[in-house]
Amino acid sequence: MHIASQLSSQLDQLRQQHRYRTLTQRQSSHEQFGNNDYLGLSLHPKVKAAYAEGIQQFGTSSGASPLVSGYQAPHAYLREQLAMWLGREDALLFSSGFAANQCVMQALAPMYQRIVLDKLSHASLIDGVRHFEHWKRFRHNDVTHAAQLLLPNEANLLVTESVFSMDGDSAPLTDFAQLQADLWVDDAHGIGVVGNNGRGAAEQLSVTQAPLLTITFGKGLGVMGAAIVGSSLLIDYLTNHAREFIYSTAMPAAQALAVSAAVDVVASPEGAALRQRLNDTIHYFRECCREHGLKIGDDHHAIQTLIVGDDAKAMAWGHALMTHGIHCGVIRPPTVPNGSARLRITIAATHSKAQIDNLIAALIATRESVERAELT
Ligand SMILES: Cc1ncc(COP(=O)(O)O)c(C=O)c1O
Repeated sequence: MHIASQLSSQLDQLRQQHRYRTLTQRQSSHEQFGNNDYLGLSLHPKVKAAYAEGIQQFGTSSGASPLVSGYQAPHAYLREQLAMWLGREDALLFSSGFAANQCVMQALAPMYQRIVLDKLSHASLIDGVRHFEHWKRFRHNDVTHAAQLLLPNEANLLVTESVFSMDGDSAPLTDFAQLQADLWVDDAHGIGVVGNNGRGAAEQLSVTQAPLLTITFGKGLGVMGAAIVGSSLLIDYLTNHAREFIYSTAMPAAQALAVSAAVDVVASPEGAALRQRLNDTIHYFRECCREHGLKIGDDHHAIQTLIVGDDAKAMAWGHALMTHGIHCGVIRPPTVPNGSARLRITIAATHSKAQIDNLIAALIATRESVERAELT
């Protein structure tokens, strides 16, 4: 291959910077504090049964893109269910949140004179907008800065996440909603877990305040895929212009059934009990951290961060935790800003107190071993 030496030298560079990435197979023997299945729905009997029955009835694939023949009764049902649940007119289903964000941004960007995004916006949103010239980033969660970047009397789009994926902090959504801009909220980490009813940003903001929402199914809902939720007109436009929607195989009908079952659980009293349990467990984890001087962030979402700073040190923490049977996310630049490599510890409603105690013991032991290694 002609480019082999270039590929190797780029990879060597990443190794030298401690930013080389490899896949680590999940071990069932490890306690899992590194995924986004906040309510444990990926293993919920009703969600699994809906998936299995869906496969029996509809097979494993939708077989085609939605506009050709991939759109089936479970897709139509899920679409309506989401619109009703979130108080919006319609929804459009995608195979992933990344695809949804990227292509919807590409489809909508030409309609606006100015697009402003939070500095920490997800890569999918950045990838959607990066080839345009009329976008700017505002300082993280800074409403005043965002307002300064908007163009007076022009069409503005303001994009933010509800809960930031690598920090676990929340955006000041109601303040953003007051600015002279259409607000697009990526609710990937809010849906299912935020709000009394688990409706995330939609529980806080009306369709007028936030005409565009991204929700993803692979995190709090425990399945896979995503939807853009908004007005009928918006969904009609995207049905005709969102390229990943038009030119990609529709999610399997069985998957749509599993997502519908997950939404049913989230919206039920059982969902409320799971959220309560999740919040209690987060509280317990944070109290233990405080007691033992573990410096985690200030936020109370299931995403808890322990900023280590240096990339190599973050890797050392991750490896040491593995030796204690604990798996959590090790996040390095460019996913997070330089100098802020971190452990991303996700708490789930399914974690027991004993599991949290194990995690805390492993964090304390790891801190000691990493600090000892630094001194030698
Ligand atoms: C804020 C945010 N938006 C979008 C996505 C992409 O969603 P998906 O995993 O469904 O592609 C993610 C996932 O990492 C995310 O954290």
